[in-house]
Amino acid sequence: MMDAVLRLEGVTRQYSLGKTIVHALRGVDLVVHNGEIIALMGPSGSGKSTLLHILGALDTPTSGTALIDGIDVKSLAERKLTQLRGQRIGFVFQTFNLVPTLSAQLNVELPMIFQRVPRRTRATRARTLLTRVGLGDRFSHRPNELSGGERQRVAIARALANDPEIIIADEPTGNLDSESGGRILEHLAGLSRDDGKTVIIATHDPDAAAVAGRIVRIKDGRLITTQEGVHV
Ligand SMILES: Nc1ncnc2c1ncn2[C@@H]1O[C@H](COP(=O)(O)OP(=O)(O)O)[C@@H](O)[C@H]1O
Ligand SMILES: [Mg+2]
Repeated sequence: MMDAVLRLEGVTRQYSLGKTIVHALRGVDLVVHNGEIIALMGPSGSGKSTLLHILGALDTPTSGTALIDGIDVKSLAERKLTQLRGQRIGFVFQTFNLVPTLSAQLNVELPMIFQRVPRRTRATRARTLLTRVGLGDRFSHRPNELSGGERQRVAIARALANDPEIIIADEPTGNLDSESGGRILEHLAGLSRDDGKTVIIATHDPDAAAVAGRIVRIKDGRLITTQEGVHV
């Protein structure tokens, strides 16, 4: 429980937009321990997605350091980084990012195809994961044949495809009614509680804060406070 899996030290991220520079992160220090569940809360535009992308090694800081297991992400070659991302991190995107032409099952198989998992194994695993998120009767449906909540659950199943130790979810309940949202939060909480996964959820949702072991608040690109949640 005490091992730091992710660590940010003095992380800034600037975006250039023409002549303006947007300071999305202004010096963030954060340690994420193995097996904890964190809710990252803050207003729209405060830097949540930027922070998650850096934690998930999808993006690198403009300055400062992002470490995974003590290894500076910037020191890794692209190949190594892609491998690490594919095997250790499951990312649930705010807008799902499912492939519209593929069935739910194939969407979940995709990350396993990249890891060269044999066909039979990956088909079985995709079906198991979809069943686990309550989509046992939706294997062949394409994204546009699914509701928002179902798509979100496919995205979660896909994030779990390669059994990652770290799951990062960007506003996973943002587009859902409170009942489907609640089920998704319960599922994410279970991954930490029952399977020992490290889970980080960006959210506006007070219900998400309730399942978190720790709440990290961000405003204008800076962490303002961190507080223990109810489950610690
Ligand atoms: N690719 C980008 N180019 C320019 N500005 C960006 C880009 N992505 C995010 N930003 C800006 O950075 C700030 C933080 O954005 P973001 O991390 O998406 O916040 P949040 O997820 O909390 O809504 C915002 O002001 C946003 O407009
Ligand atoms: Mg965002």
